[in-house]
Amino acid sequence: MISIRSSRILLILLVACSFIAPASSSHSQPRQDIERRINALLARMTLEEKFGQLQQLDGGGNENSRPEHRDLVRKGLLGSTLNVRGAQRTNELQRIAVEESRLKIPLVFGFDVIHGYRTILPVPLAETSSWDPAAAEKSAAIAAAEARSAGVHWTFAPMVDIARDARWGRIVEGSGEDPYLGAAMARARVRGFQGHDYSASDKVLACAKHWVAYGAAEAGRDYNMTDMSERTLREIYFPPFKAAVNEGVGTLMSAFNNLNGVPASANPFTLTQVLRGEWKFDGFVVSDYTAVQELINHGLAANEKEAAQLALNAGVDMEMVSRNFNKFGPDLLRSGQLSQATIDEAVRRILRIKFRLGLFEHPYVDEARERSVILSPANVAAARELAARSMVLLKNEHETLPLSKDVRSIALIGPLADNQQDLIGPWSGDGHANDAVTLLAGIKARLPSSTKINYAKGCDIDSSSTDGFDEAVRAAQDSEVIIIAVGESAAMSGEASSRSSLDLPGRQLDLIKALHATGKPIVVVLMNGRPLTINWIAENTPAILETWFAGTQAGNAIADVLFGDVNPGGKLPVTFPRSAGQEPLYYNHMNTGRPPDANSKWTSKYLDVPWTPLFPFGYGLSYTQFRLSNLQMSATRVRPDGRLTVSVEVENTGKRVGDEVVQLYIRDVAASVTRPIKELKGFQRITLRPGEKRRVEFALTAENLGFYNRAMHFVVEPGEFKVMVGISSADEHELAASVEVQK
Ligand code: NOJ
Repeated sequence: MISIRSSRILLILLVACSFIAPASSSHSQPRQDIERRINALLARMTLEEKFGQLQQLDGGGNENSRPEHRDLVRKGLLGSTLNVRGAQRTNELQRIAVEESRLKIPLVFGFDVIHGYRTILPVPLAETSSWDPAAAEKSAAIAAAEARSAGVHWTFAPMVDIARDARWGRIVEGSGEDPYLGAAMARARVRGFQGHDYSASDKVLACAKHWVAYGAAEAGRDYNMTDMSERTLREIYFPPFKAAVNEGVGTLMSAFNNLNGVPASANPFTLTQVLRGEWKFDGFVVSDYTAVQELINHGLAANEKEAAQLALNAGVDMEMVSRNFNKFGPDLLRSGQLSQATIDEAVRRILRIKFRLGLFEHPYVDEARERSVILSPANVAAARELAARSMVLLKNEHETLPLSKDVRSIALIGPLADNQQDLIGPWSGDGHANDAVTLLAGIKARLPSSTKINYAKGCDIDSSSTDGFDEAVRAAQDSEVIIIAVGESAAMSGEASSRSSLDLPGRQLDLIKALHATGKPIVVVLMNGRPLTINWIAENTPAILETWFAGTQAGNAIADVLFGDVNPGGKLPVTFPRSAGQEPLYYNHMNTGRPPDANSKWTSKYLDVPWTPLFPFGYGLSYTQFRLSNLQMSATRVRPDGRLTVSVEVENTGKRVGDEVVQLYIRDVAASVTRPIKELKGFQRITLRPGEKRRVEFALTAENLGFYNRAMHFVVEPGEFKVMVGISSADEHELAASVEVQK
């Protein structure tokens, strides 16, 4: 049904969705009690003790700093550390705070538990590829239980930065390019880390980071500036943070980047107006590592004192590592550049979270418990399952996969085939490479001992040597099938690990070409932290499995998928470009006045590469096939504040049990500001037996159909919306219909 937009009148919704107070998680102590206890403490604290609470220092690695930290703790001049972990070490430092300091305020111990503490789970980008928020929640819950048992109260996760540019190394830590999927994963991870009550002995305080727009670093170069419209901020970069706040996240981390001329760690608009004003966030904000100090390099602060003044007044509560709040805070107060109320409010927010963490009642952890929780058999089994659930089958010609377990000989080649260190990926907490199961070990464990496995490394991840090629080719010639594990080292993604090329590093592609020349079937297993430009592989090899960095159980999980014990069902949460020169490349872009047209030069495209991605957002195959049919909508007209149900039938038309991720997209055809060609507004991962058919239902509400208009009000405008349901963002068989939003 097509309807013509009859009016341009904007219907400003009661933007309830923008102003709802966070659904704060239920904590063991009533709020009033906590506020009363905070008031009592504030009344007794000296100014120095107050500034002490606003300081976090790095207690990891550098042993020399620790006596100084102990001294500060004893004097009540330190609120938190990062990187101090382990039940015994944390208890030791906590004892000084709780037994030797004047006011006995406990420390809060922070650590980057990004995808597991000791049992390392798939990197967050991988887990998002599961399109299964319950899986991400479970993974965060495992990480939380292990971390808390080791005395860690606070993880600097989830990273909820939208990333549209694969050159940026930290794309690995987040949920990819889409705000809707990102928000769903943010909610799930906050739930997994914090539960309903993060004073529990198996939960940790979460930290949504990096507030905000850090993922839009210009040219994909880490720490670089970002410059974007308020609309893009509100519609693309804010939603996962908003979702985390609504889920009750206790802290946010202010980002390193410059944002429209005002660095994020001194930005009153984002830190105060939006976060506290509009979203009613009542937790605290910690700066990123020395981000307050870096205001000088940005050219916002002339000196350290000004850096402290700008960050504190903008709404940063705790300073990580640099010490400007402490050094200059009292002076700033005396000179009237900082108010007592601002200081007290920052202290109040931090103490509130310490109370919610239950630290005043239970400052220590049980040192015996740590050993039974860490790397428990249940956690290890879950890591295997979650890793397999995160994998994406990118290509599978002639049913190359799954491989038969009766295969007599396999050539297992590649620098990542027998590699423990890289499997656990960047930001691997307290993970030990020795715990990791390599692909070689996983395959051996999976097959009878009579199967011949001809292993050869072939080449390094990133060197120019081809010395190992001959051995690899011989191994291939001696085998029925080749499995080659290639990709990036763990250190090639993560912080400060941007790349200008998205190609396979070193001679890995040449190695694949040399193996291809043997004529044996090749299965390419990718291990990497970002989309890669793998055009030649996509054209010339029959099977490609994207496994990302799958964690401690990587080798077992990959073997589960390669040999068909698990049917892969993941989908890409990021676009794979054909060339790094296409970046930033993302599916939910605007149409332009001259959309690409192969038959017309004067349209929006490139001379040297197609405008399309190599693999689109939402894409991924299975060992079975699915068909969507019979799209139904509960109405073809809906009021702006109404609700619409959209459903389709999904049938497994193949021969195996498998998972499909059904995806709902919308397009606002014409509006008072231009809208993306497609926006994800619903998804469901379902499992179907061969021949099974099920109807999948989605609800579309005003919140899904609205956007920020020219006056920055959230509105749903009347007119035609296209509704599309498919199995990727570029599904040629997608089903589509239209709905008219009435005046
Ligand atoms: C800097 C990173 O940007 C941030 O994500 C991390 O949490 C801190 N360092 C602490 O390690």
